[in-house]
Amino acid sequence: MKKLVIANWKMNPINLKGAVKMVEELKRGVAKKSKSEIVICPPFVYLANLAKLLKGSKIKLGAQNCSWDKMGPLTGEIAPTMLKDIGAKYVILGHSERMEKLAENNAIVSRKLKTALEVGLNCVVCIGDNADEHNSGKVFAILEQKFNEILADLKGADYAKIILVYEPIWAISTNQDFVESCSVDEALTVALFFKKLLIQRAGQKSAGMVKILYGGSVNAQNANSYLAEEGIDGVLVGGASLNIKEFLKIC
Ligand code: PGA
Repeated sequence: MKKLVIANWKMNPINLKGAVKMVEELKRGVAKKSKSEIVICPPFVYLANLAKLLKGSKIKLGAQNCSWDKMGPLTGEIAPTMLKDIGAKYVILGHSERMEKLAENNAIVSRKLKTALEVGLNCVVCIGDNADEHNSGKVFAILEQKFNEILADLKGADYAKIILVYEPIWAISTNQDFVESCSVDEALTVALFFKKLLIQRAGQKSAGMVKILYGGSVNAQNANSYLAEEGIDGVLVGGASLNIKEFLKIC
């Protein structure tokens, strides 16, 4: 199975011209060779333009967030229906920056997930531990609780649309609490733990449909060591995805 490489551009670049330039460079690079499935998640305001540029390309488009409603009175929000309409196929949900800095919680992420699945988007669900949780001695219990709360409403067919990311917050390159990058062993251990929880909850067949990714300081130097593991189906790349040459090396 091809590995999945997802770029999270976060709040970058600062203009559409820059975003177009990045996508054109990426398209040229991918046309030559790519061993992976590639998804890029730029800011909302660039999505419609970039969807046109990516028509017919192997690179898929995703958003970094969406609303829990399909339409209506929610000033400033973007509905998953709108994302689907302009050609996005993926949406990132529960990213730690939204949880820690924008007051999202597990219940909100779960609600968003339910609506995005109803609309038919592939949902990239981030679950991770912060530095305190990491050092608490209870990290697996904490991850399990987040897993249960966020994935609370999943049903049979939903599993095929779920991509689960282990995202240790202490290993995100731009996090002010950055501690160190997460070892491959540790990333794999949590990926296998998520797989076990999925099997317990939904059975082998449904669990087998879920891709499990690692995200946190992935770059061109270390990507291969994560991707070489059978239990890690891909990577979510933040900072290093903004440098297209580096991102292409990862892909
Ligand atoms: P990073 O970001 O690759 O810059 O560490 C990853 C993430 O935010 O998930």
